Amino acid sequence: MVVAIDGPAGAGKSTVAYAVAEALGFTYLDSGAMYRAVALSVLETGESPQQRAAAMRIELGDRITADGRDVTDAIRTTEVAEAASRVALDQGVRSALVEKQRALLATGDWVAEGRDIGTVVAPNAELKVFLTADAEERARRRADELGADWRMILSDQALRDQQDRSREASPLRAAPDAVELDTTGLGVEEVVTKIVELIHAGR
Ligand code: CDP
Repeated sequence: MVVAIDGPAGAGKSTVAYAVAEALGFTYLDSGAMYRAVALSVLETGESPQQRAAAMRIELGDRITADGRDVTDAIRTTEVAEAASRVALDQGVRSALVEKQRALLATGDWVAEGRDIGTVVAPNAELKVFLTADAEERARRRADELGADWRMILSDQALRDQQDRSREASPLRAAPDAVELDTTGLGVEEVVTKIVELIHAGR
């Protein structure tokens, strides 16, 4: 079974998806980590994003490795986030990563999160959730995580949201059959409980 969780930056997808996976005994797939790993490699090597995406071996888990190197922390900077949003515009990059994601999702039970899980990667997912929250709250959450100023994060986030929503290849949008959940003012536990209830209701 696949549970797809999509939404803009800072909507709480990673924390929520991880917790839902834990609650259900499913495996968690952070598709954004793959775009970040490709972006980091492009920044470091100067090679083409498509070439990197096709050639890299990315392993996800408690630690994230790229060609055997631990990049768990290196991919979390705002510089890499911005570069990830840029490499994610490229259809060649997307095809290579979507193929890797589909291969993982083909066996077992997953909670997968990203921008295009419900629309492109797993259109037959049993449950699709589109998580949102107002922009200021999203920026404040991310600033708390990074120990940064939320106003700076807000402008980076607006740029990235705009790029993700308006791109031609797999733009960020809710699948027609997704359940939209606005998490403004909600704690992680409340959101996780709602999603677990939706899964049980659908069975
Ligand atoms: O954690 P945050 O939501 O800020 O970002 P992320 O999920 O780590 O993704 C980083 C960037 O990768 C996003 O801004 C998107 O441009 C891109 N991405 C994508 O295009 N498709 C996905 N399935 C996941 C991420």
